[in-house]
Amino acid sequence: MDRTAIRAAKEAGKIILHYYSKNVNAMSKGNTYDLVTEADLAAENKIVSIIKQKFPDHSLLTEESGEEIHKSDYCWIIDPLDGTNNFYHKFPMFCVSIALYKKGKPLIGVVFDPLKRELFYAEKGEGSFLNNKRINVSNVNSLSKSLLALGFYYERGLLMRKTLGQMEKFFCENVHGMRRTGSAALDLCYTACGRFDGYWELKLNPWDYAAGSLILTEAGGRITDVQGKRYSLMMGNVAASNRKIHKQMIKILNE
Ligand code: IPD
Ligand code: CA
Ligand code: CA
Repeated sequence: MDRTAIRAAKEAGKIILHYYSKNVNAMSKGNTYDLVTEADLAAENKIVSIIKQKFPDHSLLTEESGEEIHKSDYCWIIDPLDGTNNFYHKFPMFCVSIALYKKGKPLIGVVFDPLKRELFYAEKGEGSFLNNKRINVSNVNSLSKSLLALGFYYERGLLMRKTLGQMEKFFCENVHGMRRTGSAALDLCYTACGRFDGYWELKLNPWDYAAGSLILTEAGGRITDVQGKRYSLMMGNVAASNRKIHKQMIKILNE
């Protein structure tokens, strides 16, 4: 596996930790609660410079600076800091997410949590790893034995009400519990290694799930949109699971 993504994620992680020990300034990106900090920007610059040095012809899609299109089959999809709100409030749950896609299909996914020093990575067809150890999804086969994760997009209207309704329905299925970590990339990786059995979120951007989706599927999991339709980078919402509870989740999500 080409190590560029891992190197870039670790370098970005160092930058994020440097800012974590200080009081960073946050700017709003639209809604007052959709934040960007100096750490997001500095981490993204670092990742982009490392990737461009090695692959100057590849395209890039990054959260903070948008798209840089080249005539190439390859595209790097980067979320320099997933969990900015957590980071800003010093809640210890955030990561760097870097993926490489070829013609719209995932090849490499790397998610690095610099605080816990947990490096999740996968390469298409080669399985998923957490700090060099192979990971697999859980064996749980019913909602009533599962721990689920969910996310709320930066939207406090219809989508939020829908999510809250879905939460209630899952509680009626007697799930063991539900968690909202504040990092979509970690939600997917935690499902990949069996800490969660499933995860859904009604609106996301490609950089939130580009890497985590490959880490999940290479660990034996499944990811579709919330209607159960086939994964695509542009689907914009996700239902992810250990595969065994996928149908049950999709049913509840669409009731
Ligand atoms: C956010 C996180 C969060 C999810 C939001 C994302 P950001 O990404 O992944 O868990 O609920 O929808 O936008 O803004 O921290 O990179
Ligand atoms: Ca994100
Ligand atoms: Ca981000």
